[in-house]
Amino acid sequence: MAPTTISEIHRLEGQEAHLRGWVYNTRSSGKLQFILVRDGSGVIQAVASLKNVGEELFQELGRLTQESSLEVWGMVKADPRAPGGFELSITRAKIVQIAQEYPISPKEHGIEFLLDHRHLWLRSSLQHAILRVRAEVIRSAREYLDDHGFLNMDTPILTPAACEGTTTLFQVEYFEEFSFLTQSGQLYNEATAAAFGKVYSFGPTFRAEKSKTRRHLTEFWMLEPEVAYAGLNDIMELEEKLIEHIVGRVLERRAEELKRLERDTSKLEKVKAPFPRLHYADAVKRLNEKGVDFQWGGDFGAPDEAVLTEDYETPFFVHRFPSQIKAFYMEPDPADPKHCLSVDCLAPEGYGEIVGGGQRIADYDLLLERIREHKLPEEAFEWYLDLRRYGSVPHSGFGIGVERTTAWLCGIEHVRECIPFPRTIYRMKP
Ligand code: 4AD
Ligand code: MG
Repeated sequence: MAPTTISEIHRLEGQEAHLRGWVYNTRSSGKLQFILVRDGSGVIQAVASLKNVGEELFQELGRLTQESSLEVWGMVKADPRAPGGFELSITRAKIVQIAQEYPISPKEHGIEFLLDHRHLWLRSSLQHAILRVRAEVIRSAREYLDDHGFLNMDTPILTPAACEGTTTLFQVEYFEEFSFLTQSGQLYNEATAAAFGKVYSFGPTFRAEKSKTRRHLTEFWMLEPEVAYAGLNDIMELEEKLIEHIVGRVLERRAEELKRLERDTSKLEKVKAPFPRLHYADAVKRLNEKGVDFQWGGDFGAPDEAVLTEDYETPFFVHRFPSQIKAFYMEPDPADPKHCLSVDCLAPEGYGEIVGGGQRIADYDLLLERIREHKLPEEAFEWYLDLRRYGSVPHSGFGIGVERTTAWLCGIEHVRECIPFPRTIYRMKP
């Protein structure tokens, strides 16, 4: 009999199943032992009765500790009261390893302790739910782009220059030279978009952010679409449709996990395109009306963004930020060149920015001027300037942060729980 998984066990109702997993919990009452088994796909209660398994195995099962590994065979019974709706009546079992005393117990642990034991903490049901939502964010985003004519074109991680400003670069020795860990695949996406039209990259990005906030990691994952012949409005439309799709899929395919997270899904049901659009200058006005001391020309911090989210139930766009606070490649707004054709998408319920993007400078002379103004090393951008020498077109794109999106959808506070092994200013272990 081939082994099955707990998520597939309903197919074997009334038959014998073979499971391979770990002990989540045990409880015994006289001649019965209840073993909660998890296998990564779910949790099931397996019941051993002295009568069915015999004295020897019954004793052996009594030695099982939390997180011991075992293979178990048994009859599958539907039981509406059981978690998952099924129960296993054990006929046979093979203990693979008796686990040592497991450090994570149901009692409350401090966050530092849990992060130190992240390699084990991943096995707990809440972390499980979060990381399964994360996987669905990635799957559904790629699914949407793959189905809409985008080509996945990955970009290098070792790069010769900064994309998002020189202050947050990680420098890496590269033989006789230095390179930098990528902050964003964007510049390369611009090249592949000129080659293939509609592309996206997906990968880890790195920022030496000194910020110790609930939404900053030093290593995070970004999905970055880039489209040739697209302007700011085109890219906002793509963004809202993509986000609507991601949220719909997570609601559909990760309902169990959202329930485990006690997420108020009625809030997510409201996420339908189009999203409201707010000019930066109007966002500043709105902040001032709400009593926040904020002046034109500043960049929004998390608290400012949280105040702006009070006005909306869905994600919304803030567009046309001042050029002075945005990256060198942002196309100026022809209607008012102090502003640029940039856009952030802010998630509601206080979450704030989950996507950043905009329209890129298409003109060679202006781009060169900006590279010089920002004191960027010109020779490292020679290839990037080529894109403006040979068939330059208007083009736009954005980057959606996987961990911030996951935190919002799960309704949890901190991005550090939204990636299997978080890296922050204070932590790169385990
Ligand atoms: O707004 P950002 O910096 O935009 C870019 O990197 C563009 N080059 C992307 C593009 O246009 N192709 O970052 C995009 C998103 C943010 O909205 C946020 O979700 C996430 O990446 N992000 C972070 N997530 C976790 N920790 C950090 N330190 C992050 N910095 C950005
Ligand atoms: Mg940003």
